Amino acid sequence: MKMHELTIRRPDDWHLHVRDGAMLKAVVPCTAAQFGRAIIMPNLLPPVTTVAQANSYRKRIIDALPRGHRFQPLMTAYLTDGTDPQELQRGHAAGVFAAVKLYPAGATTNSASGLSDITKARAALEVMQKIGLPLLVHGEVTDPSVDIFDREAVFIDRVMIPLRRNFPELKIVFEHVTTRQAVEYVQTAGRRTAATITAHHLMINRNAIFQGGIRPHMYCLPIAKREEHRLALRKAATSGPGNFFLGTDSAPHPQNTKETACGCAGVFTAVTAIELYAQVFDEDNALANLESFASLNGPAFYGLKPNADSITLVRSPRHVPEYLATDTGQPVVNFKGGEMLDWSLKTA
Ligand code: NCD
Ligand code: ZN
Repeated sequence: MKMHELTIRRPDDWHLHVRDGAMLKAVVPCTAAQFGRAIIMPNLLPPVTTVAQANSYRKRIIDALPRGHRFQPLMTAYLTDGTDPQELQRGHAAGVFAAVKLYPAGATTNSASGLSDITKARAALEVMQKIGLPLLVHGEVTDPSVDIFDREAVFIDRVMIPLRRNFPELKIVFEHVTTRQAVEYVQTAGRRTAATITAHHLMINRNAIFQGGIRPHMYCLPIAKREEHRLALRKAATSGPGNFFLGTDSAPHPQNTKETACGCAGVFTAVTAIELYAQVFDEDNALANLESFASLNGPAFYGLKPNADSITLVRSPRHVPEYLATDTGQPVVNFKGGEMLDWSLKTA
């Protein structure tokens, strides 16, 4: 018999971009309406590297919440060649830094300040390992001679495996995995290695980027891969308890910066995030495992309690709006905008 209603612990989003200013004001309420907490990416310009910057960014996010919302932003520090390990330690002790983000320099949007070489972060990683502060990794090599579709798989051999060997106790999240190789790596790397999976990588393969013409709103990094990889991601996501958990990587860009000759990378899913995931789990007859993926596996890895309250999803048609309006002068185009989904979040 088909399930018609599903109540789960309130989910968390373990990888989210909310930007700043008018964009932040538009996107934060979307996430707060669904999720209890979110790991906030630090790739602002300039990046969030200090405890003071993270604290004031956190305050700007809280200020953008609709009245009565208890949404909790979990802040991250942006790892650079010059990161002071003491700053990470201070931020962790003060309860401000929930994790540290590693962008290889040049890998993606606003990553110019990222690490030029993993060896530059040795002292910071040693401190993080000691105090239990997780490292979140954008797992793509930036070597221009490596094909864009191979950059994640090559990163495993060149960076992840040596990193794990050098820091056996470090908690590492392989962010937004997109390949069968990354899934297999995480499955065999032990309990201190986890991965987030986006809704869009569960729903599209690389054909979607070129369907009938070039589709800038399907372009993100890591780029969507072949169908065999999407199927491996779906299997991992829907597998139940374990080290795969929800991270939307919802990455809003003003419409005109996507629809241009050199469009930004990023897919925007925040408006219907949990409904997109529900669709995927339903299609794979795995709704019983949605709660593990969305609400339990992440807190367990981070050493946090699951949210105390719950959400209810109902099987009733959900129209995805085309755009989210913002006061930036440009709207943001929603992933699957104009389409229908099978599940709706019940609002209290
Ligand atoms: C992200 C962004 O726009 O900040 N873009 C993306 O394609 N995912 C950066 C990132 O997470 O790589
Ligand atoms: Zn991201």
